[in-house]
Amino acid sequence: MTGPAEDFSARIIRWWRVRGRRDLPWQGTRDPYRVWLSEIMLQQTQVATVQAYYARFLQRFPDVGALARASEDEVLALWSGLGYYTRARNLHRCAREVVACHGGRFPALAAELEQLPGIGRSTAAAIAAFCHGERQAILDGNVRRVLARVFAIGDDLGRAPSLRALWQRAEDLLPRARLRQAMPAYTQGLMDLGATICLPRQPACARCPLADICRARAEGHPERYPRRQPRPARPQVPLWLLCARDPAGRVWLTQRPARGIWARLHCLPVFAERAALLRGVPEADRANVVEHAVLQHALTHRQLELHVLGVRLACATELDATGAWHAASHWPALALPAPVRRLLGGADGPS
Ligand code: ADE
Repeated sequence: MTGPAEDFSARIIRWWRVRGRRDLPWQGTRDPYRVWLSEIMLQQTQVATVQAYYARFLQRFPDVGALARASEDEVLALWSGLGYYTRARNLHRCAREVVACHGGRFPALAAELEQLPGIGRSTAAAIAAFCHGERQAILDGNVRRVLARVFAIGDDLGRAPSLRALWQRAEDLLPRARLRQAMPAYTQGLMDLGATICLPRQPACARCPLADICRARAEGHPERYPRRQPRPARPQVPLWLLCARDPAGRVWLTQRPARGIWARLHCLPVFAERAALLRGVPEADRANVVEHAVLQHALTHRQLELHVLGVRLACATELDATGAWHAASHWPALALPAPVRRLLGGADGPS
């Protein structure tokens, strides 16, 4: 006899075996290092972007020991362009902890994985399910959307009790038999369904294996779930960036402090005020400072208003104690904040 939960998981597994993504580079392995690396990269980045980075990381760091032995600078540089650098710092810390505290082997259980830097409940569950078939639920943004729709859950999922109830439901729906095979297929199937069918704005219900049991679809407006919560406005933070070039066209980049915005990344010199920026330019060059457009850049908790001022210096003076002049050929290998990379962008960016 099959109940509603068995029916749900069986549908997902059957659909994934026929229609799911089966040829991604991190599939077909149960090596926790490879699975963990892919899950961290996929947390805030699309599959298509992750693929090239994943291959490069594995080539440079074939196992967790190699990653643990690297410097943080090298890890950040290889991560450069993926953004959300906290992930890269935690990745490196996690590798070091696996080596120092677990003899270089990732712990097997989700509950233990969750104690490591950068591994939250859903990521721990995904790793344990993919590698060992552990019966653990994932609940990332895509899966929340799928479940909110199938069960027409109109609760505010930003409230802890509503989210707790959804976790409970996600656990109740898990497969119960042949877990070593079923859990990886079910977990990947649910992820793929959220990423390719149950889309935020235009869900492809005609191709969905859950369409005939989906309550949101029966109501006629699946895209109304999950309820969207108005986000509190992020405070605006104005910053002034100095894009200084020497006569050879090199740009002055300096390493950010260990704490605060863009910690330890290489960056154009940042100032809290325009006057402070001008004081950072050699007096003889100040008349040549030009304004570029103001850029908006959203961080998780702040909205940056970036005022970029450019100047071409008469000679290659050092501008501060921690920076250096970098030719365009250096930029790809440096860990730069995303807006700075875009700004330098193209052939040679703002002059
Ligand atoms: N997003 C998070 N984990 C994923 C995975 N294993 N495959 C595809 N997309 C994902």
